[in-house]
Amino acid sequence: MQKVVIIGATSAIAEATARLYAARGAQLFLVARHAERLQDIAADLRVRGAKEVFHTCLDVNELQDHARVIELAWDSLGQVDVLLVAHGTLPDQARCEASVELALKEFSTNGTSTIALLTAIAPRFEAQRKGAIAVISSPAGDRGRQSNYLYGSAKAAVTAFASGLRQRLSKVGVNVLTIKPGFVDTPMTRDFKKGALWAKPEGVAGGIVRAADRGRSTVYLPWFWLPIMLIIRHIPEFIFKRIKL
Ligand SMILES: NC(=O)c1ccc[n+]([C@@H]2O[C@H](COP(=O)([O-])OP(=O)(O)OC[C@H]3O[C@@H](n4cnc5c(N)ncnc54)[C@H](OP(=O)(O)O)[C@@H]3O)[C@@H](O)[C@H]2O)c1
Repeated sequence: MQKVVIIGATSAIAEATARLYAARGAQLFLVARHAERLQDIAADLRVRGAKEVFHTCLDVNELQDHARVIELAWDSLGQVDVLLVAHGTLPDQARCEASVELALKEFSTNGTSTIALLTAIAPRFEAQRKGAIAVISSPAGDRGRQSNYLYGSAKAAVTAFASGLRQRLSKVGVNVLTIKPGFVDTPMTRDFKKGALWAKPEGVAGGIVRAADRGRSTVYLPWFWLPIMLIIRHIPEFIFKRIKL
């Protein structure tokens, strides 16, 4: 029976992933901001086959609360087989350009908070000497683009941090998986016009569970974002500066 902790458990991608673990009879520990949503999701996961579902509230920007939540998760589950870090926001780039305060708050939600959580959690996995840490980053972190470089820079920090953590924890049998979903139809992207490149949370969730099972290092979901980002990363700077992306 798998023991799974999900931070940002009310996210559409996280909820779809939790359903897959519930169907396997997993024990889950859910962390998110809103108690009522957590209760609803926990009840649904129990119906779907979860052996047990614990939950607690956390605003990830309240760094002083991280230790309490981490301790509660390990006390509840005993050990953790899979940790999924899924919280995030899609900041308004123009508003972040106009406000240092907002820019840093959004950077904290999408970058610093994840680094803080993983720094505090890593020793637990090191002590267990097994398990998987799956972190949702983004292709937006592969190259800063004018349309969303605040979000992109925070995700770039997460990607680089996860890479270093993967190298460190691989020595003790713990895998760190970096997940880079492309456009996914979730509340975060509610206002976007959807097209052929868009994926559903359920499809991305399947990719996350498969990649975690297989001990993968980095996955683009769906896969075609890998060649797309390869091209975007390699556009020469003198051309990149002239185009709008
Ligand atoms: N959708 C996409 O196209 C896409 C693409 C690439 C990467 N991603 C990444 O995928 C992950 C999941 O996003 P999603 O698409 O599933 O969007 P979503 O449904 O909007 O989920 C975002 C979640 O983050 C939580 N959150 C935001 N700020 C928080 C805070 N301060 N403390 C605790 N939780 C907080 C939200 O909780 P509340 O309900 O309490 O606000 C919400 O549950 C994010 O890391 C996102 O950056 C998404």
